[in-house]
Parts: sequence; structure tokens; C-alpha cells
Amino acid sequence: MLEIKGSVAVITGGGGGIGLEIAKYWVKNGGKVVIADIAQSFLDGAEAQLKELGGEVVTVVCDVTKEEDNALLADTAIERFGQINLVAPFAGIIKDGMMVATSKETGKVNRKMSLDQFKAVIDINLTGVFLTVRECAERMINNNCKGLICLVSSTGSLGTAGQINYSSSKAAMSVMPKVITAEFLRRGLSSRIRCVAVAPGYVGTAMVKKMDQNALDKILSDVPIGRLIEPEEVASLVGELYRNEALAGDVFFIHGGLRLGSRG
Ligand SMILES: NC(=O)c1ccc[n+]([C@@H]2O[C@H](COP(=O)([O-])OP(=O)(O)OC[C@H]3O[C@@H](n4cnc5c(N)ncnc54)[C@H](O)[C@@H]3O)[C@@H](O)[C@H]2O)c1
Repeated sequence: MLEIKGSVAVITGGGGGIGLEIAKYWVKNGGKVVIADIAQSFLDGAEAQLKELGGEVVTVVCDVTKEEDNALLADTAIERFGQINLVAPFAGIIKDGMMVATSKETGKVNRKMSLDQFKAVIDINLTGVFLTVRECAERMINNNCKGLICLVSSTGSLGTAGQINYSSSKAAMSVMPKVITAEFLRRGLSSRIRCVAVAPGYVGTAMVKKMDQNALDKILSDVPIGRLIEPEEVASLVGELYRNEALAGDVFFIHGGLRLGSRG
């Protein structure tokens, strides 16, 4: 079993939501954190909360879609703390819409998801994760670090209407742990650096709370535990995945029993 105490977590999207909860969990358990987000204003409040918990915190402004920002993030973690043990690329967005929407009157297509709307989600949720993980993995290998790369997929990876961009990006997150684990196995690294993904259902963060209340009520009627997942519950799962070295290469769902899949 790995110990969180003294370990270093690099967390993107660490300025809020689930990323910030993972950072809190890490410092509460004696770990150190490097949190990254798109703007310093998102990081300042997070840093204050983490310091209040007695944590050692470094903040890095990082747009995960930019190669050089991810390199700076990984370099900063090594320069400041000498190691990286958890990589949690949790920066992510949604931009929902139907691929093609039809008019109720004519039955003809009157709206399409734009290329920008599709690409914005893929750039952050997929390409951004690739860049963060690649840069951090390079430093982990070259600095003899031990630990876990923990991606975030979603129950949306199984296919949610109105989310062709998001669902596609999250389906990619469920295959990456297998690819990375297999590549590390070939190079004799897989016992030192593991890779998994968590796949949450509906978590009570800004991303979900800004949804239309009727849509949210409909969703909750499909959740047997009758409520949103708490961000702390996802953070606790990430902590367990880190500690337990038997867990590798797979996707771990956390959704309160959600009845899965789109029903049209
Ligand atoms: N909330 C849910 O129900 C839920 C469910 C399943 C998966 N997830 C996933 O968990 C992750 C975190 O979601 P959340 O609910 O905490 O969202 P959130 O919106 O609360 O936090 C996401 C963070 O990512 C940051 N971010 C956005 N674009 C960025 C960029 N280009 N570079 C750096 N940072 C950027 C935002 O500023 C924000 O702080 C996402 O990948 C999301 O898809 C969330």
C-alpha cells in the first residue's frame, strides 16, 4: 500500500470542483499539492483554503490545451517538491447540444453542433489530458517516482444524448488507462507507475449545479441513492486507488447506482 503522507499530487482543474476536493483530501492526509487552473483568480481562493488546512501548496496557471503550460506545470512540481506521485488531470468542460437538431414544425434540421463547440471539449478533456499526463509521466520516469495517474472519465462515456463532444472525450478516458498500463508494462514501469480512471455519475459541483433544475430532477429520479455524488466521495475514491497498488489499468465507477445509458 502507498502512503499519501509526504507524496506530491499534481492536479489540473484544481481551482474548483472535484480537483479542489482531491487537493483538500491530499493535504488532510499529509500530502503536498501542485494545483493548476486556467486563471490565477481561480487558484487564489483554492490556495487559501488548502493553506488553512495546513497544506504545502504551489499554484501554476496552466491552460491544459497548451504544450508549454503542461511542461511548466510538471517542471514546477519537480523543482519545488522533487517528485510527482499522483497525476490527476481533472480540468474539464461541457458544451452540450444535439449533433443535429430538427424543427418541431418542419422536421428538418434547423441547428447543428458547430465545429468549435465539438473541438473546445475535445481540446480540453482529451488533448489537454494527454499533454498533462505525457509531461508528468516523463518527469515521473526520469526522477524515479512511484505513484498513480488517475484520469477522470464519466458515466457519460457510455453515451449521453446531447453530449457527443463530452461523451466522446470521456469514452477516450476509459481506454487510456489500458493503453498507458500496457505501454508501461513493455518498459518495465508498470509496477512503479499505475494508471486508472474514475468515472463519476452526477457530482454536486458548479458543472452540474448550473444545469436546468427540471433536467436535474429528472436525472436524480434515475439515481437510486436519491442525491448527487459529493465531490469528497470522488476524492476519497482517488485516495483509495492511490493507496491500493493492486488497482491498475481499469475504470472505477462512482454513481450511486445510476441507471446507465441513453434511452433516447
Ligand atoms: N461534476 C460532475 O458531475 C462530473 C461527472 C463526471 C466527470 N466529471 C469530470 O470531472 C472533472 C472536474 O469536473 P468538475 O465538476 O469539478 O468541474 P468544475 O467546472 O467545477 O471544475 C473544472 C475546472 O477545470 C478548469 N478548467 C477549464 N478549462 C481549463 C483549461 N483549459 N485549463 C486548465 N483548467 C481548466 C476550470 O477553471 C475549473 O476550475 C471534469 O473532467 C469533468 O468532466 C464531472
